[in-house]
Amino acid sequence: MTERAALVVAGGTVIDATGERVADVIVEADGHVAAVGEGLAEGSGLGRRTLDARGCIVAPGLVDLHTHLRQPGGEQAETVESGSRAAALGGFCAVVAMPNTVPAIDSAAMVREVQELGRAALCRVEVAGAITVARAGERLAPMAEMAALGVRIFTDDGNGVQDDGVMRRALEYASDLDVRLAQHCEVDSLADGGQMHEGEWSSRLGIPGIPAEAEEIMVMRDVALSRLTGVPVHFQHLSTAGSVAILDAARRSGVAVSAEVAPHHFTLTDECCASYDATFKVNPPLRPEPDVAAVRAALAGGVLDAIATDHAPHTADAKDRPFEQAPPGMLGLETALALALTELDMPVADVLALLSWQPARIAGLGDTHGGPVAAGRPANLLVFDPEAVWTVDDSGGASRSRNTPYAGRRLRGRVRHTLVAGEPVVIDGEAQR
Ligand code: DOR
Repeated sequence: MTERAALVVAGGTVIDATGERVADVIVEADGHVAAVGEGLAEGSGLGRRTLDARGCIVAPGLVDLHTHLRQPGGEQAETVESGSRAAALGGFCAVVAMPNTVPAIDSAAMVREVQELGRAALCRVEVAGAITVARAGERLAPMAEMAALGVRIFTDDGNGVQDDGVMRRALEYASDLDVRLAQHCEVDSLADGGQMHEGEWSSRLGIPGIPAEAEEIMVMRDVALSRLTGVPVHFQHLSTAGSVAILDAARRSGVAVSAEVAPHHFTLTDECCASYDATFKVNPPLRPEPDVAAVRAALAGGVLDAIATDHAPHTADAKDRPFEQAPPGMLGLETALALALTELDMPVADVLALLSWQPARIAGLGDTHGGPVAAGRPANLLVFDPEAVWTVDDSGGASRSRNTPYAGRRLRGRVRHTLVAGEPVVIDGEAQR
């Protein structure tokens, strides 16, 4: 940790779940917000270090429910440190690290190891635990032991839990633990061998497809299991019109489900795969335009709770393979906010709800993350210029990998400063360590 100093975030427009106001924000050296109000920079803020927020929005820092940090086992692609730097540069103050590491995070010892790495990270790293041992879908992992260490989200992400009985037992086990189960919805027997969405483009390209139903059937099943057990389920990276329709109907009937969507599922279509460039290979796969439109409508209509990056770094060697042999996944942390601001026709506050306070609540971080920006709260803050236009380059940013599908894309909205527990980890768009 670098030294924290008292500072003032001056001249910005504060937006949080309580509304919008022009205000300076005073941050104490202990990492808390001391005061929020107009004219503080010239008053009690005098003599403090100033972070310029003129023309910018000051908001509760973003929270990513779905980040692959690759440590342990995948350090060539990413580390907790490099991934957390990318997160901070993208405006994220907290990320939930997925457990599909090598080995998987399926025990208290593995949780401790990644938590330890997280202590030196540039943002808060929340560790997700696996639902089943080795994410193999057979035996339940010791969720209680992991929950005792603070784990709040469990998922076999990368795999869905295939067996209905195992998933039922996992939900029953979770009900006593104050944790949330998150599901990567994909029926293996339908998806096996598939490399992209099954449809017109997979036929044209001769690439084996994954039908939308591989996702939708598991969403349906888990709605039913959530109803049966009375335990909430969180759906990860939903990508089809059918999935959001099932989610909407489930909500209306009172089932406690929540869901996230990844930026690539509202900004790219399966037609991108026509280049045979494995940068566009991701799981769930990119879908056709009607699915993208349905996901966008669900975001605007409040059916989806969160935008989560599914930041999935892979080395250039791995992604340079032929499409069918390359691993799925794309970078997301440094582009998510700007993609949402640029591509979604939504008020800024609604975009922030999807990227900050709603995911903070789902992750069980509502006490410390997601705002409001108010005296006494931890200073997990993001300052961004909503009008700044920039072009994504192909460097991959702070990630150790470069597999961004957005190279060359012009985006609006740029992170200027990120404060994590009062520490300015990004100033003027530059990571401070
Ligand atoms: O595209 C994906 N990449 N989807 C997943 O479910 C896993 C992820 C990864 O770990 O690379």
